[in-house]
Amino acid sequence: MKRIAVTGAGGQIAYSLIFRLAAGELLGPNQPIALHLLEVPEAMGALKGLVMELEDCAFPLVREIHIGSEPEQVFAGVDYAFLVGAKPRGPGMERKDLLAENGKIFVGQGRALGKAASKDVKVLVVGNPCNTNCLIALHNAPQLKAEQFFAMTRLDQNRAQFQLAHKAGVPVHDVHRMAIWGNHSSTQVPDFEHAVIGKKLVTDVITDHTWLKNDFIKRVQQRGAEVIAARGKSSAASAANAALDAMRSVVHPGSDWFSMGIFANAYGIRDLVFSFPCTMNGIVPNLTHSHFLQEKLALTHKELIEERDLVAHLLKG
Ligand code: NAD
Ligand code: LMR
Repeated sequence: MKRIAVTGAGGQIAYSLIFRLAAGELLGPNQPIALHLLEVPEAMGALKGLVMELEDCAFPLVREIHIGSEPEQVFAGVDYAFLVGAKPRGPGMERKDLLAENGKIFVGQGRALGKAASKDVKVLVVGNPCNTNCLIALHNAPQLKAEQFFAMTRLDQNRAQFQLAHKAGVPVHDVHRMAIWGNHSSTQVPDFEHAVIGKKLVTDVITDHTWLKNDFIKRVQQRGAEVIAARGKSSAASAANAALDAMRSVVHPGSDWFSMGIFANAYGIRDLVFSFPCTMNGIVPNLTHSHFLQEKLALTHKELIEERDLVAHLLKG
């Protein structure tokens, strides 16, 4: 049996994510699972309704469902944790505006994971601002290794892959090596310089480099806000889909690149959760960028340092 925790389990991302986990989309059709669902007491009613619906699906792989509001109890023995529970932004806000309210959630949840989860637990932070929340969580879980914590930039990667495929008129699965660098924010760097379509560089297939440098980058950076403007709520099904993609890459990394916020000392970045292109061999090494992208990388790096400074009181050590 594998134990999977989801926080914010009564919220909108969880409503997409949990049913797909229950159907076996993370660990496959032969792996029985226990779901460990955390919510705040005020949302327990919604969570109980979700549990009824889970029961009514009669998922053969779901052997146990645990719900609660105490992180240490809910995280007991978990192998995978999706930390979704946090406030979403509204129109006109940046994700870092959520830091004061959401950051403290990840102190308690980091501590609880360190004390109660499996010693090999893998933790994906989705709640925003996810890079810095992930940094807070890992600082507060000294029993675990920093490499066990990840922040989700996979939605940005998926968005970027779609935009490139659409522009080039090719199926989305032809786009590979789509790296997102830095923060899951409007300073993130969608790296079109290393992305490929089939075996060719994107810059050779899409010859409109003005589009790549301006419209493409801005579209991906602002896609979350664009969705909020259209739906009145932030992305949910696409976020749940990306969370599954991201955790699957943790469980079974392959040779294709995937983007993930990780705590690593690489490319001049230290003591931050920064998104890098990764494979089963770790961070893709020795990539170089044009002056144009280097300037953008410096901006996202600076923003993450500023976010870290804002939460210095929540970090240990
Ligand atoms: P939502 O408001 O629908 O659900 C959040 C849930 O979290 C609520 O039910 C709330 O009660 C619960 N919650 C709040 N504090 C909690 C705590 N301390 N412990 C457990 N549960 C808690 O929001 P949503 O749309 O599901 O989004 C959740 C978070 O994910 C937001 O911060 C949002 O910005 C973020 N997000 C990130 C990405 C990404 O790509 N990284 C994508 C989409 C959304
Ligand atoms: C997203 O990228 O859709 C999420 O981070 C939600 C948001 O605030 O944009």
